[in-house]
Amino acid sequence: MSPVEPCYVIRGGRPLRGDVTVSGSKNAALYAVAAGLLTADTLTLRNVPEIADIGELAEILRGLGSRVEIEGETVRITTPTITSTAPPAEQVMRLRASFLVMGPLLARAGEAECVPPGGDVIGSRPLDVHFVGFRMLGASVTRNGANWRAEAARLRGARIFFDYPSVLGTVNVLFAAVLAEGHTTIVNAAPEPEVAMAARLLNAMGARITGEGTPTVEVEGVLSLHGADFPIVPDRLEAGTYLLAGAATGGDVRVTNAVPDHMDSLIAKLREMGMTVEANPEVGIRAIANGPLQAIQVQAVPYPGFATDLHPQMAAAMTQAQGISLVHERVYDNRTLYVNELRKLGARMITAGDTVIIEGPTPLIGSAVRALDIRAGAAVVVAGLAAEGETTVLGIGHLDRGYAGLQERLSALGADIERR
Ligand code: EPU
Repeated sequence: MSPVEPCYVIRGGRPLRGDVTVSGSKNAALYAVAAGLLTADTLTLRNVPEIADIGELAEILRGLGSRVEIEGETVRITTPTITSTAPPAEQVMRLRASFLVMGPLLARAGEAECVPPGGDVIGSRPLDVHFVGFRMLGASVTRNGANWRAEAARLRGARIFFDYPSVLGTVNVLFAAVLAEGHTTIVNAAPEPEVAMAARLLNAMGARITGEGTPTVEVEGVLSLHGADFPIVPDRLEAGTYLLAGAATGGDVRVTNAVPDHMDSLIAKLREMGMTVEANPEVGIRAIANGPLQAIQVQAVPYPGFATDLHPQMAAAMTQAQGISLVHERVYDNRTLYVNELRKLGARMITAGDTVIIEGPTPLIGSAVRALDIRAGAAVVVAGLAAEGETTVLGIGHLDRGYAGLQERLSALGADIERR
């Protein structure tokens, strides 16, 4: 451990109880910030989480000609003209969502150049869907040294089929299609709530999109977009993380602003584990442990299936369930880096291919562990909260990228967690 490396110190073993309100969705907010490149007017975004990734994307936009003001949870973006179509490689490599500048730059300036983006090392993360979409809209996509380059004098609507319902791919192609000439149909689009929100935001800016949140999205191109004032949807992954922390500690946690319709798969699985779950728009989601959790099986698949971004946290909760639990990961090929970290806390779990097998209940014992990506980091926090004694979580820069006010929110639920 480097002497200056910040860490969380958790003294676990206490049931989490109480209410928590989550921030706006990290991923949806990133799509919304990128949408600011599509208009010369001011786009005002509310309920934006105060996390490092938003600052990183804002910095990229500033280099492309945007004025970006961040005041707490409000972000204002104004892009009178695009002054550069090639963001610097070192900035693009800091986060995956940086690649979302491609669609807007292509649509508004006729060209865009970007290195392959960075992001969590959770598997091979191809970009083919983005390129298939751009090409179908009439752009040429070529490699220029380290960069991907897309260009088109004028984009034209098309019927586009995606091999895979890529989340960022759908958003990027939507960004390009809204300003294309004529009609676009995207078949096998990602139906995630954050993608649907991005479409609603674009409509608030004057786009004409229908079918958002379904696998077939229709777009009638318009000549230009205008500003809007728009709130970001609550973060279902942050909400799920707190509910799973409640489950792992035998607690009773309510996420007051969780949207139950976005979280059917988690609600079903918590009930299968033996928890009582109340879920409606008035209460949000409350999950109450009634004695020991039961072992269950989960497959992480695209929405509305169980979210891959809740897989590691679910596995951490499963260490406290009676029997043999399984998580089968079907989105990423390298999602299970967290397993070795949880084993350091005493978890009895192994990986067999894309499946993690967990034997429980296991009394976890505090130890030093590392957050290896955002969700692996959330998993070690959940396990640390369930563990007896002191857990030190290193690598918390990953958690800062995705979880606003993590320590404050967990403390309010009765956790003993301190940032050092
Ligand atoms: N894929 C393809 N072809 C493509 C693109 C993707 O086969 O052209 C496959 C990938 O190999 C991968 C799967 O699709 O196995 C998921 O990739 P996708 O493109 O859907 O993911 P993404 O758009 O890069 C977003 C989120 C991730 C989240 C995934 C899946 C952002 C910034 N990132 O990534 O979020 O895991 O969708 O839901 O929105 C996180 O928040 O911790 C995170 C990693």
